[in-house]
Amino acid sequence: MKLLYSHDQIMERVQAVADQINKDYAGKKPLLVGVLKGATVFMAHLLVRLKLDVEMDFITVSSYKHGAESGELKLVQDLDTVAAGKDILLVEDIIDSGKTLKFVYYYLIARGARSVQIVTFLNKTIAHPVKEIPNPSYVCFEYAEKPFVIGFGFDYRERWRNLDGVYMMDEEDKF
Ligand code: IMP
Ligand code: MG
Repeated sequence: MKLLYSHDQIMERVQAVADQINKDYAGKKPLLVGVLKGATVFMAHLLVRLKLDVEMDFITVSSYKHGAESGELKLVQDLDTVAAGKDILLVEDIIDSGKTLKFVYYYLIARGARSVQIVTFLNKTIAHPVKEIPNPSYVCFEYAEKPFVIGFGFDYRERWRNLDGVYMMDEEDKF
């Protein structure tokens, strides 16, 4: 595999995104909602850089494997924080087709969130076929390449989440 973003490069971008959020949310009490499991590492690094009165929660969604229309998503683990009336920062690790994001975004709106802004580590700009979702407000990296990426919380079949940088996978690494 090939190094895409070193840990230092990542820390620099996470700090820049946190600085922007600190400015934009001054005086507010945002609720960070991370999409499990990919967002955990990014979320933790972002969280400790926020100088705000902030809450954190996680949500898990997965696609139906059998029966239902392909690509349909379901809620696997709900928030345990009240979403109604909150200014939510929805933290998604990677936006690819945008399907996961769309599902969670409208779920949070339906739960009565006052506002929902999207934060993502990696915005895959060559994908994104799903419409009807706002553009992410906070992005660490724009990615216009094809290779699958791993590390810093991102997995290939549940492996490699522990790498402290982000790597592009070669086909021969996919075992
Ligand atoms: P989407 O619903 O198509 O936008 O897919 C988003 C989800 O797919 C992300 O939350 C990731 O968990 C996963 N994903 C998409 N691309 C990659 C990748 O290159 N590496 C690791 N996970 C990915
Ligand atoms: Mg994932």
